[in-house]
Formats: sequence, structure tokens, C-alpha cells
Amino acid sequence: MGISSANKISRRSALANGAMIAAGLAVGPLAARAQNLAPQANKARKITGRDSLKSHAAHHGLLAGTAVNVRALGAQPEYARVLAEQYDIVVAENAMKWGPLRPTPDTFFFTDADALMAFAAEHKMKVRGHNLCWHSQLPTWFASTVTKENAHRFLVDHITTVAGRYRGRIEAWDVVNEAVQVSDGRPDGLRNGPWMKLLGPEYIDLAFRTARQADSHALLTYNDYGVENSSEDATKKRAAVLALLRGMKARNTPLDALGIQSHIHTGGSFGAGIRDFMASARDLGLKIFLTEMDVNDSNLTYNDIARTDHAVAETYRDYLTTTLAEPAVTAVLTWGFTDRYTWLAGGFRGQSKHPQRPLPFDANYQPTEAFFAIRDAFDHRKTPRTAV
Ligand code: G3I
Repeated sequence: MGISSANKISRRSALANGAMIAAGLAVGPLAARAQNLAPQANKARKITGRDSLKSHAAHHGLLAGTAVNVRALGAQPEYARVLAEQYDIVVAENAMKWGPLRPTPDTFFFTDADALMAFAAEHKMKVRGHNLCWHSQLPTWFASTVTKENAHRFLVDHITTVAGRYRGRIEAWDVVNEAVQVSDGRPDGLRNGPWMKLLGPEYIDLAFRTARQADSHALLTYNDYGVENSSEDATKKRAAVLALLRGMKARNTPLDALGIQSHIHTGGSFGAGIRDFMASARDLGLKIFLTEMDVNDSNLTYNDIARTDHAVAETYRDYLTTTLAEPAVTAVLTWGFTDRYTWLAGGFRGQSKHPQRPLPFDANYQPTEAFFAIRDAFDHRKTPRTAV
């Protein structure tokens, strides 16, 4: 197990403070004062144009992106400005999921998804589709309507309609999301969710084959979470995901990429487990996307914004230093870009001592220390340039 981020944070803080002292920037209680300067210093630093996340990412073979709250995009000019300024790939946080897309068994609601596609086209951004098959966020009518007899038709019709509508305009689809749940106890480690109950494990290949037929351009992606850190659970999940991917490849199921959601926590430890996992995915010929990155700080015991921001930033730095060394990684997306709309809001899971600060921009669209840690990690990527 690698040194925890917490230990690295204290060591790195001392180094940072030393640097600031040398620069005549920090005196007094070094750790606190140096970190308290951070928010002000952040505001003064350039972040647009060639200083943007997407510009720094592109120099190192990466797309920089974020999930988009489409309602905020339409209502908040500041939201749209920062989005266009910083990112070159986007994904709908919710608008392309079954629930939002399917108000009734016979109708589709594409207004929000179409709005994101239009914004992306206007700003020459690529789009990730999320997602064509998931156990969660299914429409309210799903359980009472979809049966073992009609599930095949519902799945094929949905994928054909949705992926067909955006054919040629989606960079990558999350075709199946979160199909692995080792704790469900199946020998194959797969989740015993609605699609498994309705169609058996064959639903996964069916979804990918249907998606390929609907859009031969899109990179067909398997997307999942909980594979990032050095815990025993993550180790078990990585093994089950790899078994799934290897089986798909052995059956010639169309599969182009692995999405690693990257919902991580402050103090997380990221080492050989995730490195070897990504190398194994590369050996299968897969691209790798970090698809939903954010840092949950609810395990921090103090209520100090500067310290929280520093801990979050150092966790991003640690995680990206490890993962960007993998040459197959070609895109890095956070799950939202401003704390104002993070799904972690309101003290996610109830433990937070303060509103969560997981993203590169705070609730007032000001860059946080995390912004600069992510940009630095792009700059310090130690791997040959990869074609995007
Ligand atoms: O839009 C409705 C609104 O009309 C209604 O008034 C309100 C109250 O019921 O609900 C709103 O829908 C909510 C939706 O987010 C949009 O805000 C849903 O209830 C809520 O469940 C949904 O949560 C989303 C969650 O997935 C659902 O599981 C989060 O925003 C979204 O960030 C989260 O994203 C997932 C990824 O898709 C997959 N990976 C994990 C990630 C985090 O859970």
C-alpha cells in the first residue's frame, strides 16, 4: 500500500511552505498562513486561453472535460462561460439516462440532451454519452412495464433510438454502467440488478452489440467505480471488472474503452493496484477514460476551507500522478466543475463538517487549489504522448 495522501500532504505542505518562505510570501504559522494565502493567490493566477485546463491537457495527449448540469447551462451565463473556456469534452450528468429520457414507455424527451449537443457543437467540444444501460435512474414505469418477455426489445429499441439519434456525434458511449457488484455474491462478480434479473448476463453483450450497430463511430465504453484505491474491496472489484472485459474480448463483443469513474476520497491511497489494472486494460487494446473524477472530503475532521482545499488538491495530485502515467489514458473528466452543483452537495452521506469542495471551481466559479493541482498533474504527465 502506498504512503497515504494524508502523510504526503503534510510533507508536501512543508515543502510548499518552504518554497513560499523562500519567495518571501509566507511568514508566521507556516502551514496555516501559507494555505490561507492560497484562495487569494488562486484568484490572481491566469486560467484562460493557453492557461486553461484543456490547453494544458492537450499538450499531453489528453482531453479535459466535465459532466454538465444542462439546466444550469441554460440558466447561468457564468456556468456556460467557464464550461466553454476550460473544457473540450463534456458529458450530460443526467440528461442522457433512461429516467430523464423516457417519461413514458412510448415517448422520449430529448430536449435537454439536444441542448447539450448543440452547445458542444457550437464550441467544438466532443461529447461522451452516459449511459445506455444502468441499474439506476430507470424510469418510474420501468418495474411495472418491462418483463422478461419484452426486456430484450426495450433494451434494443432504447439503444437504437438514442445512439442512433446522435450517430457520428458521440465520441464515446458508456454503453453499460456499473455492472459489477462483487458483494451481490455471483461467481462472476456481476451485479444482480434489473437487467440481470430480466435478461441474464447476456444483457451486457446485447447492449454493446446494439450500440455498435446504432453508431459505428462512438468508442464503446464499459464504465464503473470503486476500482481506484488500494483497499481490499477495490482489489476484488478490479479482478471482477477485468474478468468481464476479458470475457467480452474473448467473445468478440465490440468494446473500445474502459471508463474509470474516479470518485475518490481525501486521504486515498493509489498505487500498484490501479496501475496494473489500467495496464491490463491496455493489454486488451482498450483506451482508458477517467470519467467522473471528484474528491469527496467528508472524511476530513476539520472545518477549515483552506485546509480542506489543500487536502482535496493533494488527493487529485496523487491520483492523477499515478493514473496519468498510464499511456492509454486519453481523457480526464470531473463530475461537474463547480461546487455549486456537485452531486456531493449538502454533506453527502451526512458526515461532512462543511459544504463539500470537491471540484476545480468553487460555488462562485472561482478556481480552487484543485484546479491548479489538476493542471499541474497534466503538465507533469510522465508518459509518451498518446494520440487522442
Ligand atoms: O430532475 C428531477 C427533478 O425534476 C425533481 O424535482 C428532483 C426531486 O425528485 O429530482 C430530480 O432528478 C434528480 C437528478 O439527479 C437531477 O438532479 C434525481 O432525483 C437524482 O437521483 C439524480 O441524481 C443523480 C444520480 O447520478 C442518480 O443516481 C446525480 O445528479 C448524478 O450526479 C449521479 O451521477 C452518477 C453517474 O450517473 C454514475 N456514476 C455515479 C454518479 C454519482 O452517483
